[in-house]
Amino acid sequence: MSNAFGKIVILGAGLAGLTVAESLRAEGYDGAITLVGAEAHAPYQRPPLSKGFLLGTTQAAQLVMRSPELLAKKGIHLKVDAGATVIDRAARRVTLSSGEILDYTGLAVCTGARLRPLPLPGAGSQGIFGLRSLDDARTLATALETAHHVVVIGGGFIGLEVAAAARKKSLDVTVLEAAPRLMSRVVAAQISQFYHDLHTAHGTHIVCNAVVTELVTQDGRIVAVRTQEGQEFAADLLIVGIGVIPDTAMAATAGIVCAANAGNAISVDACSRTSDPAIVAAGDCTARHMDDGTWRCLESVQNAMEQGKSAASALLGRNRPFTATPWFWSDQYNAKLQIAGLSGGFDQTVRRDTPGAAASFSLFYFRNGSLIAVDSINQPADHTAARRILDNNLPLTPAQVTDATLPLISGC
Ligand code: APR
Repeated sequence: MSNAFGKIVILGAGLAGLTVAESLRAEGYDGAITLVGAEAHAPYQRPPLSKGFLLGTTQAAQLVMRSPELLAKKGIHLKVDAGATVIDRAARRVTLSSGEILDYTGLAVCTGARLRPLPLPGAGSQGIFGLRSLDDARTLATALETAHHVVVIGGGFIGLEVAAAARKKSLDVTVLEAAPRLMSRVVAAQISQFYHDLHTAHGTHIVCNAVVTELVTQDGRIVAVRTQEGQEFAADLLIVGIGVIPDTAMAATAGIVCAANAGNAISVDACSRTSDPAIVAAGDCTARHMDDGTWRCLESVQNAMEQGKSAASALLGRNRPFTATPWFWSDQYNAKLQIAGLSGGFDQTVRRDTPGAAASFSLFYFRNGSLIAVDSINQPADHTAARRILDNNLPLTPAQVTDATLPLISGC
């Protein structure tokens, strides 16, 4: 396909789609590339939306990753406001919402994920917001200007980052988390407790085991929420941060194999190939086959970039497996959480404290005596070392972890 007659269409103009497009050029592909985005914007960075953007310290212009002009210079034709509606695999063409039809020789599906909706009557009322896109963040930032009582449903990364932003604006903030502890999907209890204490110290009211069963509205506006336990929380602004769902309905309808046990995300191999040899997929819309036989969605910047590079290579008939250790991060107040590896299935945790360093430590997760993941709070050196250890399968004992005078990597 590495010739001037190729026509590659990329559905989704987020980080994964952009990476596919630029990687194709970097690998010498000189055919046509069309990057199709459903949003009205050129590719932009999403992570700051729940952090600096809400606070006004990061402006929209700073989020833009590539302008349409820069993409045009690279021969990447960006179409914004152009959601695709149908993939016709037999004819190798996609139909856009405008009715326009694009033929392809290779297709990359990078459609990302959308917010999981709150399944309650009244969820569409005024004063209820989610945060995924730049437009969502703009709307929420405006609403925060006049809000008083903010309730956040969901104590995951998004809910907690938004809660921190709202507290920095001196609003009254309550976080309602259905699970017994914060961020339980990704971190162990010690890390959850640290964040519980951090948010509480900043004046946020955190309630765990709180399942919202009723939205109370007046004249079409949210005024309060009620939980299963019968508690009521006043809210003039409600933020729903209960996770995301891979945006794969179009791919599934086209018969591209999706992982039913991973939210119907598109099943890809380590090289981002789907069940159709002419189609690759990358980013939040995918689920990858893990060593333990399960399928796993890795919603992260790293995943979008690495799968994007693999996908471009696969479209050109090359193998570039994404094998690096997964990593993630979250910024809440002055605490930077960096996660290396996947901690699910751990049977031992070991904590490493650096003497004299307040509000910072790392938690090492072991399974059968082997390191599988490390969560670091304000310990970037531990995070960097953890990724090296996990990437290269270097030896590490719990005793090395506990004694902060010992280096994590022998010889360093
Ligand atoms: N009521 C209260 N809490 C709920 C409910 C509910 N009905 N449903 C889910 N939750 C909680 C979950 O227990 C979890 O702690 O919401 C939290 C959602 O956390 P995540 O799954 O991490 O999702 P979210 O925080 O929305 O982040 C979405 O954006 O930044 C990225 O990496 C992040 O991929 C993630 C995505």
